[in-house]
Amino acid sequence: MVGERDEQCAGPSGLTLIVTAQLKIKNSKSKTAVPSRWRKEVQSVLITEAQIARRIKTLAREIERDFHGREMVVVALLNGTVVFLADLIRQLNLPLRLDFIGVSSYGLGTESDHLVFTKELRLDVRGRDVLLVDDILDTGKTMSCVIARLKLLKPRRIKTCVLLDKPARRVEKITADYSGFEIPDLFVVGYGLDYAERYRNLPFVGVLQPHVYHPPAAK
Ligand code: PRP
Repeated sequence: MVGERDEQCAGPSGLTLIVTAQLKIKNSKSKTAVPSRWRKEVQSVLITEAQIARRIKTLAREIERDFHGREMVVVALLNGTVVFLADLIRQLNLPLRLDFIGVSSYGLGTESDHLVFTKELRLDVRGRDVLLVDDILDTGKTMSCVIARLKLLKPRRIKTCVLLDKPARRVEKITADYSGFEIPDLFVVGYGLDYAERYRNLPFVGVLQPHVYHPPAAK
């Protein structure tokens, strides 16, 4: 299945997840200036590095409370999650094991496409508590599909954690158990999120300048 279009990707039916406290980020004019290096491509800073760091600490406390007393398996979705994941797991004072699933939905554009799995899970999650971590919950297609696949492996429970939640674009009936920030329908990059594989290294979440993904027609 690796590298091919996946046909098992219907969303899980009857999935019940609980939403915990979430911070809403509005598209107000950001007080934080875009660093000069990025000003040509990034329109505004939506969430600062400091806001992210603070929010991750509170998310970690919530997760610790819920997973107390059992070793968990953290399953992270490549590639966008890596920055968030690295910061999150270092805040978790719990025994955990870590594994990755490679899945991609966007291709090189800004719209969801079909899902392609590029790496399968290696750890055995049967009977385990799983924390599924992703950078953004957008249409929900990726998370729904991955949950459906994980359920076949018979974990004891699956909880979901995302840094960003963009409910305006949701197609699947899914919410995250732990969610960092609810954001408006803007094309965001940084802190792991990309456009055409670029901008993952921004330390903040920013809004891309439209000319980057809608370049002016050549004369
Ligand atoms: C992004 C993001 C999520 C997914 C969310 O991944 O990392 O996994 O899209 O979108 P959805 O809710 O509409 O399914 P992407 O496919 O861009 O791959 P990446 O993680 O390598 O950036």
